[in-house]
Amino acid sequence: MSTALADYRDETLGCTRCPLAAARTQVVFGSGNPNAELMFVGEAPGFHEDQQGIPFVGQAGKLLEKLLNGIGLSRTDVYIANVLKCRPPGNRDPQPDEIEACESHLFRQIELIRPVLVATLGNFATKLLSGKPAGITRVHGVEQQVVLGGNCVTLYPLFHPAAALYTPSMQNVLAADFARIPELLAREEDSCCQQLSPPAAGEPEREPVLAQAVQLGLF
Ligand code: URA
Repeated sequence: MSTALADYRDETLGCTRCPLAAARTQVVFGSGNPNAELMFVGEAPGFHEDQQGIPFVGQAGKLLEKLLNGIGLSRTDVYIANVLKCRPPGNRDPQPDEIEACESHLFRQIELIRPVLVATLGNFATKLLSGKPAGITRVHGVEQQVVLGGNCVTLYPLFHPAAALYTPSMQNVLAADFARIPELLAREEDSCCQQLSPPAAGEPEREPVLAQAVQLGLF
């Protein structure tokens, strides 16, 4: 792990920003390649993740690994994290106050890892990192440029593997969306980055991306 990321991980291990701290076995910070170009962001640790301290080690994780292998990658090539670092009791949905308390951990991770492609798994990660309310059924498989952790990133929403586990049709869609990842990774660094600098004379203002960054608390 890069020193800065390892240091940040150590800092978060005692986090008590929200009530989930009381019931967790441990903080599930994230795992994988600290210099990954591709980062996955899920929802929150479940039972097995809470026990082992590693994200996506249960059934959903097995599917994620199978999908990764299908595009020639393994867990050690990518970085995997969640919106919440602690398990919600009974695997219930993350609550808005928990997301608010925890989100800066995720933004800091993204800032330190500097991925070029962030694949959000399911609704919670997609809504948080896109800053938009559109649900995963509408936006899965549609890449968008966002500024995260001060860097231009391609955000790529995917169905959550846990949701796809027992729904073959959704699993097929997830596999088809996954199949586009190599192409997205191979794309040139892209025009979105230019939107961080002020527009040249005569160029229109590019408010939306900056406004979105501000909205995400990045500036
Ligand atoms: N589901 C998630 O969203 N994250 C995990 O780590 C495991 C299951």
